[in-house]
Amino acid sequence: MNSNNKIIIAIDGFSSTGKSTIAKALAQKIGYRYVDTGAMYRAVTLYAMSHNMVAPDGMVNTEDLVAALPGISIGFGIMPDGTQHTLLNGEDVEEHIRRMDVSSKVSYVAAIPEVRHALVKMQQGYGVEKGIVMDGRDIGTTVFPDAELKIFMTASAETRAQRRLKELVEKGQATSFEEVLANVVHRDHIDQTREESPLRRADDALDLDNSTMTREEQNEWLLQRYRETVARVNNKAI
Ligand code: DC
Repeated sequence: MNSNNKIIIAIDGFSSTGKSTIAKALAQKIGYRYVDTGAMYRAVTLYAMSHNMVAPDGMVNTEDLVAALPGISIGFGIMPDGTQHTLLNGEDVEEHIRRMDVSSKVSYVAAIPEVRHALVKMQQGYGVEKGIVMDGRDIGTTVFPDAELKIFMTASAETRAQRRLKELVEKGQATSFEEVLANVVHRDHIDQTREESPLRRADDALDLDNSTMTREEQNEWLLQRYRETVARVNNKAI
């Protein structure tokens, strides 16, 4: 057990399963830091797109992007309303990285080994002191294989597309259910079949299929798992 009695909580799963919503809520409740690793891949994608390194078909100019990596800084800033925004080289890109143009290209950028190595290193740095809730695709398998609590979230593609569509419509971004569903299914495929740390459930992860659960039920479920884990880890340390 580390000296401050804090643990690492890794939340992985398919896109639009609501990982970040419950991860954020738990982090706030227990006073942990929250890190959205998808936002980090999205920020690198936005950088690549705005420097003309991504072709319309998703082909990435890997050589130029890898050369640019040392000059790309990603951070998180806390806004006056308490929300966390993603910063790309100091600029607030939170709104832009959630748009469909970035969503449709991010899987290609996230499949590049050098991009993954650079971001995984950064993510591991955030966890040095523990006390962290991190969500993504490879947190329990690659970033923190020794995380004390690992969750793997699933929900049907239709449920996820419906949720994503609602978010986009609320933000005033015109799109259709079919387009969002196609994007969800396409991203699942690329995320699961890429060579470098594909989306995979860690053997010791706990499953959470939230297709029919309310947000409150999910928050409660996760809080219970957190409490059990802390009790287990503390017992072991005695
Ligand atoms: O969770 P999200 O939809 O914001 O993630 C955006 C993309 O980044 C998604 O296509 C998968 C990828 N990703 C990844 O490969 N590894 C992570 N740890 C997080 C996200």
